[in-house]
Amino acid sequence: MLTTTLALAVLASRAAAQASPSPTYSPPPASSGTTASPAGSPNAQWSTVLGNTLWFYDAQRSGRLGAGAYGNRVPWRNDSSLQDGADWNLDLTGGWYDAGDYIKATFPLGYTMFSLAWGALSYGPGYDAAHQTPYLDGTLRWGYDWLMKAHPSDDVLFVQVGGNDADLAYWGGDQNIPQPRQGYPVNASHPGTDAWASTAAAFALGSLAYSGSQWNTSGSAHAPASLANGTYAGLLLQHAESLYKTAKGTTPLATYSQSVPQIKAAYSSSGYGDDLTIAALALAAATNSSGYYQDAYNYYQQYALSGKRQVWNWDSRSPAAFVLFAEIANARPGIAQAAGLSTNLTGWQTETEAYLDSIVNGKQGYLTKGGLLYYPGDSDEASLNPAVAAATLMLRYAPLASSSDKAAAYNSFAKGQIDYLLGNNPMSRVYIVGQHPNSPENPHSALAAGGTNLNNIRNDPPTEAYLLYGAMPGGPLKSDKFWDYRDDWVQTEIALDYNSNLPGIAAFQIVNGSADPYYVSLAANSFTTPGGKPCDAALPCGSSLSGGAKAGIAIGVIVGVALIVAALAFWQRERIRRWRRGQRFSAK
Ligand SMILES: *[C@@H]1O[C@H](CO)[C@@H](O)[C@H](O)[C@H]1NC(C)=O
Ligand SMILES: *[C@@H]1O[C@H](CO)[C@@H](O)[C@H](O)[C@H]1NC(C)=O
Ligand SMILES: *[C@@H]1O[C@H](CO)[C@@H](O)[C@H](O)[C@H]1NC(C)=O
Ligand SMILES: *[C@@H]1O[C@H](CO)[C@@H](O)[C@H](O)[C@H]1NC(C)=O
Ligand SMILES: *[C@@H]1O[C@H](CO)[C@@H](O)[C@H](O)[C@H]1NC(C)=O
Ligand SMILES: *[C@@H]1O[C@H](CO)[C@@H](O)[C@H](O)[C@H]1NC(C)=O
Ligand SMILES: *[C@@H]1O[C@H](CO)[C@@H](O)[C@H](O)[C@H]1NC(C)=O
Repeated sequence: MLTTTLALAVLASRAAAQASPSPTYSPPPASSGTTASPAGSPNAQWSTVLGNTLWFYDAQRSGRLGAGAYGNRVPWRNDSSLQDGADWNLDLTGGWYDAGDYIKATFPLGYTMFSLAWGALSYGPGYDAAHQTPYLDGTLRWGYDWLMKAHPSDDVLFVQVGGNDADLAYWGGDQNIPQPRQGYPVNASHPGTDAWASTAAAFALGSLAYSGSQWNTSGSAHAPASLANGTYAGLLLQHAESLYKTAKGTTPLATYSQSVPQIKAAYSSSGYGDDLTIAALALAAATNSSGYYQDAYNYYQQYALSGKRQVWNWDSRSPAAFVLFAEIANARPGIAQAAGLSTNLTGWQTETEAYLDSIVNGKQGYLTKGGLLYYPGDSDEASLNPAVAAATLMLRYAPLASSSDKAAAYNSFAKGQIDYLLGNNPMSRVYIVGQHPNSPENPHSALAAGGTNLNNIRNDPPTEAYLLYGAMPGGPLKSDKFWDYRDDWVQTEIALDYNSNLPGIAAFQIVNGSADPYYVSLAANSFTTPGGKPCDAALPCGSSLSGGAKAGIAIGVIVGVALIVAALAFWQRERIRRWRRGQRFSAK
């Protein structure tokens, strides 16, 4: 019965989104990043950051590109992977390519959708003022509509599409993606407690964002974008409740990467207690149900989340749970009371502030010389994402802080990280592609690169074929140095989850009436290109081959020894495989 309901939900959700974009938005040339915004609201540069960071999600689309509300905004993209799901007699087309390659990955997508929806819930007037709400709506629906397809019945959730050996060895555009692509589900016999719960949390927060209810965490400034659609909110809630019930009730509890080892640990998960907590909490927020709240509180205790000091990312949800507990205490104080819990804002302030203070006071991660929040381990293979995530939590929480001093400290720390991201760093790099002439131009993206040569990703072709506007790359090394090398996935790969907090940050700045982003003060092409070589997981220290794939090929051609070429190709393939497997493993 519920299966039928869910199937109908998928059909209904294909209908057009509510609003048409007016005026239409396309990213302006990067050269416009040096122009100060005219006085007035909304700030033009922050509006561009918002518009571009959402546009990135259009560039990552899989399936029939014209299927969304406003069609395809990315002229160089083509329909692709139109057989996804055929191996299961299902339609799993659509959704997004997860990062620089062509897998579709559900577990990190849960974090991405949660983050996008959270921004939409709280900084709505920013999206509305910048005329980005239709694109926000289109982006949210593009993700949720696919997640609904990936959840065809209560316990079945497809956690990955693509990713077999042929896929792993492919580097090229969207026309020749190896087929067929396999779909990998979790189900009752192969449980994925974490994936079910993470996806439930995403659906629940989306339902709240579409419900039209106010989410007052700090006065009138925090309000949802004009997305209200009760029908869509209801569909999202059905999937959230079904997934959560499955996650809670299916034994044994297990991580999806244990249950489905064929996914090759692309996004190997470390646990499910945090996912269960955030799912129950998001459901409490979406429904006002004290039962869900009681569950969330029980999980928070059972899995000892209190006092956890971890980065916030797709595999680590406790930090967001702290902040969401505090938000609920303010926006829906009745829920905890109805659950018979004496928890109130004071208690969640203590929990959240202990967490945030440990970052501000350098007890969790440290600041690089240039000022970037750096977590040894987590930041080693993409440094900007953990810093942006921390900044996001601080901006969200500051209005709820127990004192104005604390609020000021969080706002100031967040501003420092965002300024670093946008140019106030030793390289004078603006780490959003296409935002400014100092932005990187070589994101590790098979879609945008335009090359097919796995042995020379860096220089073939010399110039990236397409500008991937709005994409935040992995970021600099702990030395603050950044090499814009397309083959260095540590520094230049892009991903759905990396970008997911940026639209909210930009919308916040618009609501806040902030001055122009830092990059406006940078002269065109004033960035630094470091000497020496990178030394990271993509290009290991001392590896003479690493910087020299090109040289290797030249030797191969000159010497004409087929063996050398073959050996090089093999070596490169190993490197590619290692990158795919290891790239987003979250050290804890
Ligand atoms: C609300 O969402 C539903 C489901 O996606 C859609 O069919 C409908 O057109 C939307 N309503 C409006 C007014 O946009
Ligand atoms: C889309 O197709 C066109 C025409 O075949 C091609 O030039 C372009 O590179 C393709 N885009 C991608 C991302 O592969
Ligand atoms: C359940 O999931 C496992 C792991 O993905 C898969 O091998 C199996 O075929 C699925 N079972 C059913 C009945 O679909
Ligand atoms: C929103 O919350 C703030 C802080 O708790 C409170 O002062 C304000 O009155 C609330 N506003 C509304 C509209 O509920
Ligand atoms: C939850 O409570 C809030 C505030 O009382 C209300 O605005 C909202 O509509 C309620 N949501 C549901 C799903 O009942
Ligand atoms: C708030 O919670 C704290 C402990 O978490 C408790 O000591 C205090 O009495 C509570 N206050 C109210 C008004 O419920
Ligand atoms: C909010 O805007 C004010 C100026 O209007 C600025 O001083 C402050 O730094 C901004 N807050 C953040 C966190 O950027």
